[in-house]
Amino acid sequence: MMKENCVINPRTKRAVRKGTKTYNKIKHLLNETQESSKSVQVNMSVIKNIKSVAPEIIQAQPISKTKSRSIARVSSSAKTAKTAKTAKTASPPAPKTISVKKVTPLKSSQSSKIRAVNYLKKIVRRKIIDNKIGEDENAGNKIVALVKRRLQPRYKPVSILPDKSDTKPPPPKDDTLLIDNVKVLQTFLKKKLIKDRYSLKNRIAFTKYVEEKIKSIPHGECAKPYTFNDGTKGFTIKNIIFLNKIIGTPSAYGKIYLSSIKNSFGGFAMVAKMMRETSDNLSEIRIMKTITNKLVSTGNSKHFIINVGSFQCKSKTENKPNERLLAINELAHGDLKMAVNDYEIYSKEEVMINMYLQIIIAIATFQIQTSHYHNDCHWGNFLYQRNNDVGWYKYIFNGNIFYLKSCGLNMCIYDYGLARKIPKAKIPIMSRYLIGDFHRISLAFITKNYNGWNDNDIPEDVVATAMNVKSFLTSNATLAKTNDGSFKKRDSVFQYIYDYVFPAIFSDYPNVITTQTPDNVINKDAFII
Ligand SMILES: Nc1ncnc2c1ncn2[C@@H]1O[C@H](COP(=O)(O)OP(=O)(O)OP(=O)(O)O)[C@@H](O)[C@H]1O
Ligand SMILES: [Mg+2]
Repeated sequence: MMKENCVINPRTKRAVRKGTKTYNKIKHLLNETQESSKSVQVNMSVIKNIKSVAPEIIQAQPISKTKSRSIARVSSSAKTAKTAKTAKTASPPAPKTISVKKVTPLKSSQSSKIRAVNYLKKIVRRKIIDNKIGEDENAGNKIVALVKRRLQPRYKPVSILPDKSDTKPPPPKDDTLLIDNVKVLQTFLKKKLIKDRYSLKNRIAFTKYVEEKIKSIPHGECAKPYTFNDGTKGFTIKNIIFLNKIIGTPSAYGKIYLSSIKNSFGGFAMVAKMMRETSDNLSEIRIMKTITNKLVSTGNSKHFIINVGSFQCKSKTENKPNERLLAINELAHGDLKMAVNDYEIYSKEEVMINMYLQIIIAIATFQIQTSHYHNDCHWGNFLYQRNNDVGWYKYIFNGNIFYLKSCGLNMCIYDYGLARKIPKAKIPIMSRYLIGDFHRISLAFITKNYNGWNDNDIPEDVVATAMNVKSFLTSNATLAKTNDGSFKKRDSVFQYIYDYVFPAIFSDYPNVITTQTPDNVINKDAFII
């Protein structure tokens, strides 16, 4: 038997006297072991009591620093949920999808992995909300480093006590549990989501990932009202997509919700546009889908917002008329109105010119590749995404190759609710609509004193460039061509702009746009117009 002032060193089997370093170490480890075995017991009892708790309640637990604290949190929320549920009915509700198997991670060493996964979700969500991703080129590395630090044990385990788990075979692997894939997830986050999240390649990868997550939801599904843990109200579709919070200004046509996908590691990475089931809105979704498949997913253009899916509520009774149609779209960092009212952007001449050129390219690509005119080119219908691309983007238009420098903002054309098709035969008489798209958005780059929309002190040469384009488009020369039906093909209008407007811009802004091949071209296969 151990004397009070001694402990037995299990490795050497010798007594160690009180007051020595080794004594303290052994005592400390003995205490740790007792504590953790107590925790496991408590944990088991908690698990027995939470069969009826919805899975998201367990998954949504914030990560805690110590085992015992995490148990306390799970336990209290389990209790709350249980009380809330049992208050209405005497008998406990039938177990939902949750099974004991689903919560087993909490009783094994896998709990730390679950916490890690939740931790990953939490920081990614926070970064995305803060719009920090995309601004910090090291965000990926930093997050992975943070997570690694978090996963490191507090002290180096010493094999001083026999470890029971060493003698047991490892628990069977359960592929349904994400916890087995922490490493894979880290790599995925680093490579695909965080680092250069908004490069075209990663935009495509991320939306494919979300597409997989939502593909089980039937197209006719309706959005159901949902109250979040913090009391805010939104909607959910099959408890997979959550419409959390309205962004942008709700209009007669629709509401835009910042949305999250269950178990997706991008957190709040999507938007859901909730609309009426009108032919314009249905057409908007159709055009977006076609553009996503033909232009963006193929890497042919980066100037469109990706659509990952849509839902058209089948039930006649379930939703209000303006809640029946949903488009799930990629998230942007803001719209053009916000951009040109942001001092950090509007004060920089080359950034403004760059954005303006991207918008002209986006409109041209839209008109030429879809045979539509947009018909609603106001500054709320162009969205921007921040990215970390460095170098020059290559474009090709009717055999002409040119390069546009990356400026950290990718401009996308969006909202095709009022877009109309122009049949080839009608181009000569309808070309003024094509011209109108370019003309209208130029006003975002022109100050109010010149009848533009912009109220800021934007660089004079930006205003001058946009005014030149605008007056060229309303000049007698252009009018004459419009009236005599000279614009015969889908690309005639942009060809005209390219031939007469672009040369001056090439020479005024060689550091923004050039026909000379630069050293660092970002995309080997040119974007098409
Ligand atoms: N994918 C997105 N990412 C970020 N913000 C978005 C996104 N989609 C829409 N918004 C914001 O919501 C606003 C309104 O969106 P949208 O154009 O789809 O609605 P709308 O009802 O058609 O508006 P309007 O009739 O004024 O054109 C946009 O101007 C933009 O600020
Ligand atoms: Mg709009």
